[in-house]
Amino acid sequence: MVYVIVATVTAARLRELLGLSASDTPGYRALADAVRLLVAEGGLAPRTRLPSERELTGALAVSRTTVTRAYAELRDAGYLVSRRGSGSVVSLPGSGLTTRVSPVPEALGVHLDDSPDGSVLAWTIASSRAVPGVGRASALAVQALPAYLAQSGYHLAGVPALREALARRYTERGLPTDPDQVVVTAGAQAAWTLLMRSLARPGDRVLLDSPTYPNAADGVRLGGLRPLGVPLDGGRWDLEALGSTVASARPALAYLLPDFHNPTGALMDDETRSRLGALLGRSGTTAVVDETMVDLSLDVEEGTMPLPFGAHDRTAVLVGSASKSFWGGLRIGWVRAPHDVARLLLQRRSGTDLGASLLDQLVVSELLADRDAVLVEQRDTLRAGRAHLLDLLATHLPDWEPSRPAGGMALWTRLPGRGSTQVVAAAERGGLLLTSGPRFFVGPGGEQHLRLPYSRTPEHLDEAVRRLTRAWHALDRPAPTSRAISLTA
Ligand SMILES: Cc1ncc(COP(=O)(O)O)c(C=O)c1O
Repeated sequence: MVYVIVATVTAARLRELLGLSASDTPGYRALADAVRLLVAEGGLAPRTRLPSERELTGALAVSRTTVTRAYAELRDAGYLVSRRGSGSVVSLPGSGLTTRVSPVPEALGVHLDDSPDGSVLAWTIASSRAVPGVGRASALAVQALPAYLAQSGYHLAGVPALREALARRYTERGLPTDPDQVVVTAGAQAAWTLLMRSLARPGDRVLLDSPTYPNAADGVRLGGLRPLGVPLDGGRWDLEALGSTVASARPALAYLLPDFHNPTGALMDDETRSRLGALLGRSGTTAVVDETMVDLSLDVEEGTMPLPFGAHDRTAVLVGSASKSFWGGLRIGWVRAPHDVARLLLQRRSGTDLGASLLDQLVVSELLADRDAVLVEQRDTLRAGRAHLLDLLATHLPDWEPSRPAGGMALWTRLPGRGSTQVVAAAERGGLLLTSGPRFFVGPGGEQHLRLPYSRTPEHLDEAVRRLTRAWHALDRPAPTSRAISLTA
């Protein structure tokens, strides 16, 4: 049988996706684990053709046996099918491309929720349960709904009440905004997709921090744009590196996360915002600023937060979301842009979608009306989660070096000695799903870090750290079926 191939990944690209630098020489087990995680985390789509064993052997500078055994292990686990004429093709266990059963239940590419019986715990995304106000806001939204029922329900730019509330919020934050500058979308990720489609052309470069929010980088690649990573080390933006990259590559867009950066939690100060805005302006690069985490300030008083990036750079486009402040289930985000860009987005939008859910927009309008009280609760919960997770790590994994971010939803943790991929693979075997460090990197890097969200309940964190600790210590013992070989980065 010959399979339909949706993409082909070269050996050099696979090495990059795996986060391997030129000096890394993984063993077969580590290589198989790394590829499997890449598939499970959505970094490699099913029906993608992998490089031949010979090509990968050359690109990784490992022995042919290493690649042959890694591919054999992936085939056994159902992550690869090999057929004459098709080469080695990525698969998902139990998907029909293979008949084998996955060692991990629900290996569907993205693991978002725990399995119902608790045997598999998903600690992969930084998100929380709905804030308590969502129930009340939903009831109020249903009461407001009849006023809309006689109309079509299509609001390409968003429901006026929500656009007005969002514009007021930007104005309060020091960025005067009128509702015409706001376009409501089905979440921040959808906003980013619409912006890339509207403001860039296939082949254009897009600057991103490395590490960054992985779905944003995936969106760049899926849109036929070229991601360009600039290292973000120690929670500080390197203006010199950013400046020289921007001057030489002239990216069309720069995707930035200045407000509790995901995954590092870093907060960009006003001076850096101003200087970065100026240097992007010199090369005609539009800053797209994802403010998804901006409400989740845990240590900085809201009144003393840096100004929105758009107050320093008038051409910047800001992206917001209700997902982290209130609940991901609402699927509401938005764009705040200069008037001409907002108009352009509306012209281009109908090729992407026809607006966000009206009822959900009304729910978010209600939540914004009660914003202060709702956010006090969300921030208290997150502060408690951060303290609890830091305590758990200090007790059970005292050698680990977690960050203590001033806001956001996750710790960015430095690992002593062991590679992130290895830890994630061991944890997965023990029923804990994590996102590996390299997933956050644009290009090589990430093996020294893990992102650990503190946005889950205390019980979830207790159990997750228990499984993580067990997995960590299991790495000290030889793996049952092979010699354990580490990835180094
Ligand atoms: C930085 C960042 N941007 C965007 C998103 C996605 O937001 P939404 O749910 O609004 O699409 C997330 C969710 O994790 C995020 O962390």
